Amino acid sequence: MSEQTVHKGLAGVVADHTAISKVNPETNSLLYRGYPVQQLAAQLSFEDVALLLWSGELPTEAQRSEFMAFERAHRRLMPQVRSAIDLLPVDCHPMDVGRTAVSVLGACDPDAEDSSPQAELAKAQRLFAAFPAVVAYDQRRRRGQEPVEPRDDLDYSQNFLWMTFGEEPAEEVVDAFRVSMVLYAEHSFNASTFTARVVTSTLSDLHSAVTAAIGALKGPLHGGANEAVMHTFDEIGIRAEESREQAAARAKAWMDEALTAKRRVMGFGHRVYKNGDSRVPTMKAALDRMIDYYGRDELLGLYDGLEQAMDQAKGIKPNLDYPAGPTYHLMGFDTEMFTPLFIASRITGWTAHIMEQRAENSLIRPLSAYSGPAERQLP
Ligand code: COA
Repeated sequence: MSEQTVHKGLAGVVADHTAISKVNPETNSLLYRGYPVQQLAAQLSFEDVALLLWSGELPTEAQRSEFMAFERAHRRLMPQVRSAIDLLPVDCHPMDVGRTAVSVLGACDPDAEDSSPQAELAKAQRLFAAFPAVVAYDQRRRRGQEPVEPRDDLDYSQNFLWMTFGEEPAEEVVDAFRVSMVLYAEHSFNASTFTARVVTSTLSDLHSAVTAAIGALKGPLHGGANEAVMHTFDEIGIRAEESREQAAARAKAWMDEALTAKRRVMGFGHRVYKNGDSRVPTMKAALDRMIDYYGRDELLGLYDGLEQAMDQAKGIKPNLDYPAGPTYHLMGFDTEMFTPLFIASRITGWTAHIMEQRAENSLIRPLSAYSGPAERQLP
């Protein structure tokens, strides 16, 4: 065995500085550029949060209006992106569609090979504006529906829901959606963000880094968990006619069985937070509002039943994906679209990290401890 210390999974390793967000597991807090995420989710539009993540400061009125006009001007699905999506099987995973779309957007971007700070910011903002149309188009094509054109009189969240469902969304729904976007936007050196930084560290381009990050996000141990949560609910069985108590009892029985079978239950646990995810109370409050709005108390029974059973058995708390999954379900998104929604939000955090990495770059290239056969000779 080698004498080298191996940090399996890089757990506990501090790989670099960042000024973008601070995760504090001791106090269960999360700050974006110094501001508590709960305050941002309560008070700001997602567009303002995006500007904060990119620039480090809250936007002035002039900066906000300029960005709002820019975002509206880049919302339409590009013909090249539409053609590329149309080539993909209608039953492929929507994360594959998102990954392909970002790759095409990169190849077609006017600043594709320009990595100056101005070009990087413009690319990040174009990607932010363009991605909702990809999700909306993909969900609609799977349902055999015609695409819906964006509307300039709607903000980012309203327009996202409009393009997906072709109906003007209720204020309550828009607000819960906005909250989810704010909460998913940034979370320090998680697996996908670190992937984006690794790719950037080779001086590759922004879209390559985001494409790679999407690959990392797809995994069920990371972003794919929000979708997996809904599969759990489906496996237990959603019964609209059931009372909250009946649903909770069935959920508890399911969890006990799953844990006895040593199953990993998605939506619970976190590499950094060991005593609860800082974002969960805000997202759970948004889910509660959606449950009230849609009158679906039995879902709360499933939610509480699983949470309590996991807490009693293992003391493991829910992560953000746990309340986000059923929230998106209630809004009408297909389960496989949940992780692409995470992409739409995390494009902000990823691109902020890509710009930060590039500004003070050092190639990310760790060592490995060799554990294969000792040197030997061919016979
Ligand atoms: N369900 C069941 N058991 C879990 C669990 C879960 N969701 N999360 C952690 N555990 C258990 C592990 O089985 C392990 O138990 P053991 O010590 O008896 O073997 C212990 O808790 C530690 O887990 P470990 O995988 O070493 O922790 P980690 O810090 O590497 O993992 C996650 C963090 C997120 C990968 C892990 O909690 C997980 O797989 N969660 C489900 C996926 C998910 O929701 N991901 C979204 C994250 S935001």
